Parts: sequence; structure tokens; C-alpha cells
Amino acid sequence: MGVKICCIGAGYVGGPTMAVIALKCPDIIVHVVDISKPRIDAWNSDELPIYEPGLDEVVKACRGKNLFFSTDVERLVAESDIVFVSVNTPTKTSGLGAGKAADLTYWESAARMIADVSTSDKIVVEKSTVPVKTAEAIEKILTHNKKGINFEILSNPEFLAEGTAMEDLNQPDRVLIGGRETPGGQKAVAALKAVYAHWVPEENILTTNLWSAELSKLAANAFLAQRISSINAMSALCEATGADVSEVAYAVGKDSRIGPKFLNASVGFGGSCFQKDILNLVYICECNGLPEVANYWKQVVQINDYQKDRFVRRVVSSMFNTVSGKKVAVLGFAFKKDTGDTRETPAIDVCHGLLQDKALLNIYDPQVTEDQIKRDLSLNKFDWDHPHHLQPTNPTTLLNQVSVVKDAYEATKGAHGVCVITEWDEFKKLDYQKIYDGMQKPAFIFDGRNVLNGSELRKIGFIVYSIGKPL
Ligand code: NAD
Ligand code: UGA
Repeated sequence: MGVKICCIGAGYVGGPTMAVIALKCPDIIVHVVDISKPRIDAWNSDELPIYEPGLDEVVKACRGKNLFFSTDVERLVAESDIVFVSVNTPTKTSGLGAGKAADLTYWESAARMIADVSTSDKIVVEKSTVPVKTAEAIEKILTHNKKGINFEILSNPEFLAEGTAMEDLNQPDRVLIGGRETPGGQKAVAALKAVYAHWVPEENILTTNLWSAELSKLAANAFLAQRISSINAMSALCEATGADVSEVAYAVGKDSRIGPKFLNASVGFGGSCFQKDILNLVYICECNGLPEVANYWKQVVQINDYQKDRFVRRVVSSMFNTVSGKKVAVLGFAFKKDTGDTRETPAIDVCHGLLQDKALLNIYDPQVTEDQIKRDLSLNKFDWDHPHHLQPTNPTTLLNQVSVVKDAYEATKGAHGVCVITEWDEFKKLDYQKIYDGMQKPAFIFDGRNVLNGSELRKIGFIVYSIGKPL
């Protein structure tokens, strides 16, 4: 048998990543461990804790053979050669750096546990996205406790996107491994490279120093989010001038230096990472005495907030400046299609905005449960710009103004307006004549993802607003 791998953190990254390693490396035993028993139980059941196309098949093929999910964290960490740490690293909500800095509590406690339980040499791999220089702190924690045990730290950030995780893992654009430039560090890099080399072509496995690998992850997310904020900023100008943002994006993206991907204007980007990682980058710049650089990146998040706000204002102003007591259908709640993940979804901000104007919301998402939606809307929302908690939607408002329904037709029945917030394929195929017939008139559609055919909808009789397009 080959090396023994253990991954701490059975989340959106740990679960799929380890499943693919197990599939591609039958000679390696992979344990995924987590402190959350419900999560591990779900990984061991027929209902996996996350929805990701293609994941079920891989887990079913490997589970019980060379892929195991367990809460026996300490024993399995102690027995392994390579320990991936894939715990959550959210934004700090209190104390120094609140609203921006990464909260490394989970990471630190995992590192302390590794130091405590280890009885043999280990390679510890940073899989979570962490601030540049985190490896230095982790090294201090690991080496502090044990005599005679050698820990090598590697940075191996993950670039998968949710909804396409399995494709991204099967055929990654690149795998990045950063390590110390010492013989021990280089040996560890080679050991991890050998794991990925089971299926990733050698030229796609990049090796760098530790700090470059850590920073490249934050930089990649910042560049990706910046493209979305750039096209979203253009969408506002398109609406003011009569240009069409899809045509502009197409023309701009035809330049091979710019490229066509990731230029879809939207209601705003969501997901657990873009905002968190940029704010983390901003904080690191500030701490390093680079306020101009910090402010440059902060704008990417500010434009995103502006875009979500602009969408809500457009809905309310179009519907004669009030949505009070009007039914509004919200189609889609997940932060993008093909996932049930709602972390930082723009739907939360849009719903909050509409609820404040006293709208009655009928929400439908094919993958998000009623419980999740209600939990998201009643949670404290943290304001990164002025670190404090914004007022959550109170239970009475939730009860009286929000219904979560089972399909799009039910959601739109009797509604004055429809907001498309997630680009689920099924929303393109709906019978819009039927929807129109069941709605109040004039019937409004606000397409926050530019996935619907505006001219067809206008023919039916809808008043259509799409992002960055002429009315
Ligand atoms: P997640 O919240 O889905 O999973 C993290 C898991 O770690 C949780 O199940 C939690 O119970 C567990 N955990 C926390 N502390 C632990 C401990 N001490 N011991 C054992 N288990 C512990 O998070 P995620 O979305 O998988 O993200 C993990 C990291 O990967 C983050 O740093 C994130 O920025 C990064 N990342 C995420 C994505 C993504 O698409 N979600 C992509 C690339 C990178
Ligand atoms: C993103 C990155 O794409 C991954 O490479 C990275 O590993 C990951 O963050 C991470 O570090 O967590 P993810 O957030 O899962 O992945 O999904 P994306 O496809 O990047 O979408 C993010 C948000 O941007 C979504 O709300 C999406 O709808 C929006 N988006 C994306 C746009 O509004 N326009 C686009 O053109 C593309």
C-alpha cells in the first residue's frame, strides 16, 4: 500500500477532493475526518451532505474500499503520513481585523491537535485558503510541542468551483504546491506531487515557494471576482446609455489577451470565498502598510454590494416605487446553479431589501430547503464595511412575508413580479405564457442572471428588466 492520507474537514472542499484522490489512486487509503458527526453520518449515508454533480458516483465507487469518513479524528491523524487541513476559514466577526481578517481558530485548533497526537513524521498540507504567511505560524505551533517528530508544511490551495467540482478536480487547469526550499521541504513537495501525478499531467503541477502558493490562491480569487465587478460596473453604464452588456462582454472577450470567460453580468457574485478572500487580501495589504493596494481591491467588493443594491432599487422603482403587500416570486436562492450552497448568496441581500419594502416573497430553489432559506434570512448579517451586525429579518416578518414553495409555477402564481436570482437551467425552460396568465398585471420580470429571452417575454406581455440591457 502507498501513503496514508487523512483530511481534516469534510466540507465542500475536503469531501470532493479526497473522493477524487481515492478514485484516482487505488493504492492510497484516504480518511476524511470531521468534528461534525451529522456531516460524517451524511457522508456515510445515501444522502451526501453536499450536492455536486457526479460526486455521488465517485463516493459510492470508493467508500469502504479506500475512502472512509469518520469522526475518529485523533487516531486517524496519528496514523497518517500526509494530513490535509481543509477546515473553514471564515471572516472574523469580532476583535482585531473584524470584518476583514481570516478567522484561523479552526485551523489553529487542528494544528494543535496534529502536534498533540502525532507520533511519526508528517507532511501537513494547507488545503484551506489562508492568509499569506500562515504556514509560518502553523510551523511554530507544530514544532513547539513535539521533540523528534518532523513536520513539513506544504501549501496546496484548491481552485475548484462549486457545481463543477468534479470536472475541476478531474482535469485541473493546474495543481499548485508550495514548499520550503530545504531538502526536507522539497522531498515533501515530491511526495505530494506523486499523489497528483496519478492523473494530472506533470506540466500542470506547479511547484513554488510557500508564500507564492499561499498568495496565488488569494490573487486568483481576487482576479476572478474583479472581472465580475468590472463587467457589473459596465452593466450600470450600459443601462444608462443603451449599450447591451452581453454585446460589450462578447466584443471585449474576443481579445485573446482578455478571453471570453467569467464576463457574465449578474445581480452580484456570491459564494463563501470571493468576498472573504478579497477582504482577507485587503487586510493583509493594510497590515503591510499598503493602503493604496488595499483600497484598490476593496472596490471589487464595494461594486458587488452596489450591484445587489441597484437590483433591489430597480425592482422597487419599476413597480411604481412600492412593493408593499405585493407578491414577488424569487426564483433561485443558491449562489449559483448546480449547488445547494447559499453562503453569501446575493439572494439573501435581495430578499432583505424587498422585505424591508414590505414585499411578500414566494421563494423557490430546486436544491435549497425551506429550513435553509429561513435560517439564512433570519441570521445576523455582518456588515464588512462598518463591522457590526445588521438587523436580521425578525421571526414575525419571516412568518408573514416569506413562503418557500415547491416549484416555479406556484411561486409566480398571483405575483406582481418575478426575480430570477440563480441561473438554474430549468428557469429557461418554464412555460412563461402560463406564468404570465397566472400573474397580476402589469407582470414584471427582473432577470438578475440574463438567462431569459427578453424579446420572447415581451411578446407575451411581460415588462422585462435584464442586467445591463436596454429596456
Ligand atoms: P466547509 O465549512 O464546508 O467545511 C469545513 C469543515 O471543517 C466543516 O465540516 C467543519 O466541521 C470542519 N472542521 C472545522 N474545524 C475542524 C477541526 N478542528 N477538526 C475537524 N474538522 C473541523 O468549508 P469548505 O467550503 O470546504 O472550505 C474549506 C476551505 O477551503 C476554506 O478555507 C475555503 O476558503 C477553501 N476553499 C473553498 C472552496 C469552495 O468552493 N467551497 C474552494 C476552494 C477553497
Ligand atoms: C470560486 C472560484 O471560481 C474557484 O476557482 C475557487 O476555488 C473558489 O471560488 C473558492 O476559492 O472558493 P465558486 O465560488 O464555487 O468558485 O464559484 P464561481 O463559479 O467562481 O462563482 C462565484 C460567483 O460569481 C457566483 O455567484 C456566480 O454566479 C458569479 N459569477 C460567476 C458571475 O456573476 N459572473 C460570472 O461571469 C461568473
